[in-house]
Parts: sequence; C-alpha cells; structure tokens
Amino acid sequence: MKERIIILGANGQIGTELAITLRNKYGAENVITTDLNEPKNKNQNEVFYVQDILDKSSLRALFEQYKPTQVYALAAMLSATAEKYPKKAWDLNMEGLFNVLDLAVEFGVSRVFWPSSIAAFGPNSSKVNCPQYGVMDPNTIYGISKQAGERYCEYYYNKHNLDVRSIRYPGIISWKTVPGGGTTDYAVEIYFEALKSKSYASFLDENSALPMMYMPDAVRATIELMEAPKENISIRSSYNLAAMTFTPEEVAESIKKQIPDFELSYAVDDVKQRIADSWPQSIDDSFARNDWGWKPEFDLDSMTKDMLENIAKLL
Ligand code: NAD
Ligand code: SER
Repeated sequence: MKERIIILGANGQIGTELAITLRNKYGAENVITTDLNEPKNKNQNEVFYVQDILDKSSLRALFEQYKPTQVYALAAMLSATAEKYPKKAWDLNMEGLFNVLDLAVEFGVSRVFWPSSIAAFGPNSSKVNCPQYGVMDPNTIYGISKQAGERYCEYYYNKHNLDVRSIRYPGIISWKTVPGGGTTDYAVEIYFEALKSKSYASFLDENSALPMMYMPDAVRATIELMEAPKENISIRSSYNLAAMTFTPEEVAESIKKQIPDFELSYAVDDVKQRIADSWPQSIDDSFARNDWGWKPEFDLDSMTKDMLENIAKLL
C-alpha cells in the first residue's frame, strides 16, 4: 500500500529527524509535515503546512485533502515547561490527542503514532528496571497527561479498532534540533557546552540517573514499531523502551575521554530536580524486544563520540 503520512508538531527535536527518515523511506511528496510555525529550513520538494493541532476544523480539512494512511502526533508541551503552564500543557497534550484520535477514526487512518514518556511513571513506580505493568502515579502535569493519553489510546483501539501505537520514550539526546523544554535537556546541553566552553553547570544533581536514548535509535524504534505486523502488537497503551541510563557525572566522564579538560559543576534547578527524582532510573523494555524485536545500537560512549563529532561541525 502506498503510504501518505502526516506529522503534527514536526519542527521539534524528534519530528525534525523522524521527518527526514520517513521522507527518505516513503518519498518527500508522501510525508506532510506540520507545526505551529514555519520550519527553519525547508527543501523545495517538501510539503509543509502551518497547522495548530488544536484547530480541529482546519485539521479535518488537512485529513480530507491528504487522506493519510499514517499520522504521527508529536505536538506537546514537555515536562519542565508544562510545570510552568499546567493548564496550557493539559489542553495541548490532551485536546491535541483527542483531535487526532477522532479524525483518525473518521477518516479511517491505518496507523497512528503518539509518544508517551518515562514521565508516565511516578515516585512509587519501581526505580530500577521499571516494568511495563506496575504502579504508575505520575505527579507532574506532563506525566499525568501522558498517562491519561495512554489510557485514551488503548480505549480507541478497543472501542474503535484504531491501530494506535506508542512508545514511552526515555530522554532523547540529539544534535540537529534543540530540545523543547524537558527535564532531560541537560544531557544535550552538556555536549554543546563541552565543545563551546569546556565546562557545564548541570541543572540536575550528580545522583540523577535517568533512562536516555540517542536519536537514531529513537527514530528507528518508532518506525520499527509502526512497521511491525498488527498481530505482534500486544500493548496498546505504550511500550517501555530503553537504551542506556546515566547520571550527569557519568556523561561527563564519557565526554572527558574525548575532551580531557572538560569540567562539570552543578547549578541545580529545584523544579527540574523534583521532576527527575519522580522518574525511574532504568526501564525494563522486554515487551518491545519480544513483540517487535527492539534492540538499541548506541551506548553512552558511542553516542558521546557521535554527538561531539557532529556538534563540532556545527560550531
Ligand atoms: P519539541 O518540544 O521539541 O517539539 C514539539 C513541537 O510541537 C514543536 O515544534 C512545537 O512548535 C510544536 N507544537 C507545539 N504546540 C503545537 C500546536 N498547538 N500545534 C502544532 N504543533 C505544536 O518536542 P519533542 O522532543 O520533539 O517531542 C515530541 C513528542 O515526543 C512529544 O509528545 C513529547 O512529549 C514526546 N517525548 C519526547 C521526549 C524527548 O526527550 N524529546 C521524551 C519522551 C517523550
Ligand atoms: N525528555 C522528556 C522531558 O524531559 C521526557 O518526556 O520532558
């Protein structure tokens, strides 16, 4: 079947790189990217529309025009920003998802991707190897919206047979597009600052171990999940997914292997620290491994090497 894909929230950290891979795979003319604002760069053969995910009537017109087979709903407010604007975060994260789920049912979209997060877990979830099923008591507005979103996705699968698929992404590390206001953003900033000034003041403390993943693995996981046969998908809420876990101290040690005089200090942000402390340190992703063959390729040192090489070319 010829795929026609719409990505909502495509100019962000994940959407930018996902769009590149999907365009290479399915052809530029078959991947329609949308966001609130124009992208910084756009090739001539790329199709882009300014589209607010909350504007259901213009979103319906877009679905009507393109009759998408796949929709990726990425527009959201991330954890740290969401704590500043809880009402706005809830409205965007929930209403945006409702619009997509409803229109996907109305237009018979074959597959929908919507990302959840490790933020769907909370202080009483298992800290180590957090299982797919267990206590989930998120205490951030972002995490609450992700947990509720997961329930809605599963509900639409059960009630409307909508083939909606989801991953609980860990913190995503990348160099092409800056992250959009998350608690794990320190682990991106640290690489840029290591090259710019050989020093970085982390906003999370030295004990903050969090699950992380390099962008090429995250994009590959997303597409592998979307391409997996329907009968292999046993989870319709959201899949746990893992690659690596590290603290600020450990990422600094990895950077020092390439930049020996790099120095790490701390300027802890209380709000972000509280968010980080509520999340698991590591994730058990055995359902993703068993159901659709997930396996990460990058570990901390190979990611560090690739990040520093690519950022050096940008500066
Ligand atoms: P981002 O903040 O970098 O990008 C989000 C994009 O959505 C931005 O380009 C923004 O302009 C757009 N947007 C905001 N409001 C919009 C609206 N009303 N209509 C249309 N577009 C709008 O986020 P990201 O890191 O690319 O994350 C994408 C998804 O993945 C989000 O759902 C996020 O919760 C999830 N996620 C990300 C991470 C991560 O570490 N990056 C981890 C877990 C989950
Ligand atoms: N990286 C994201 C954040 O920190 C996790 O969903 O908000």
